[in-house]
Amino acid sequence: MAKIIGGLGTSHVPSIGVALDKGLTETPDWKPFFSGYDEGKRWVKEARPDVAVVIFNDHGNSFFLDRVPTFAVGVADRYNPADEGWGPRNIPPFEGATDLAWHLVDLMVERHFDPLVCREIDVDHGFQVPMELFFGRPETWPVKVIPIWVNTIQFPIPTPQRCWELGIVLRNAIESFPGDDRVVIMGTGGLSHQLQGTRAGYINREADLAWLEGIANDPERYRQMSREDYVEMFGSEGAELIMWLVMRAALQPKVDLVHKHYHAPASMTGAGMVILENAA
Ligand code: DHB
Ligand code: FE
Repeated sequence: MAKIIGGLGTSHVPSIGVALDKGLTETPDWKPFFSGYDEGKRWVKEARPDVAVVIFNDHGNSFFLDRVPTFAVGVADRYNPADEGWGPRNIPPFEGATDLAWHLVDLMVERHFDPLVCREIDVDHGFQVPMELFFGRPETWPVKVIPIWVNTIQFPIPTPQRCWELGIVLRNAIESFPGDDRVVIMGTGGLSHQLQGTRAGYINREADLAWLEGIANDPERYRQMSREDYVEMFGSEGAELIMWLVMRAALQPKVDLVHKHYHAPASMTGAGMVILENAA
């Protein structure tokens, strides 16, 4: 059967993509951020995943506010980078892991999740940036992908508990899929940030640092929080962190925190990452 080889969590700020496009990774502003991912790239190279399942949110690029699915799954052969207003970025398209994606969709429906199923759709920075941070800028991506969209854009967003349940279905789907694919799960978004309203610019460093430990060793705490708790603790856009719960629930109850990194601010965001492996 297919195997989950680890979980990655990371922020997905669009200006990270711009910094990569402009060759700014070694500048004093950006180096403290990008250097945190050296270990991520090394881990991925050693772990040799065949498939990356990327849990992220669209930002009004592939879905607009007139129709927002709570959960969507891609079953396409190929995903192009979305045009976010300044033209699609010059990175390779992503090849879909279609058979596993359909298997996942089938199990989700069986378990009463009823996702929107996408045969043709582009992926925005929420997907692109995490892929670049861990896989660099290859000519073609070394993994096939399954995008999972979670609505964190427009209330009502799903509950942390529901995201957790989705992670369990994801784990069961992978572990019941014939073959020997090595699968990495990537939860994206966060950490604390708020881009709007009177609290625009809000960053909660203390809560972010606690999150990077807690998502590994005490995820129960974050599963039990309400959506409003997330907004209060992490900011309105920091509530993107509920997507890391999908990744965490797909792993075993006990995990090893292989690596973590934090740098704030990156753009308006407390930027963090973790590498998790199931404990032996
Ligand atoms: C920023 C962060 C995000 O998560 C996002 O989707 C857009 C912008 C930012 O900090 O600039
Ligand atoms: Fe975002």
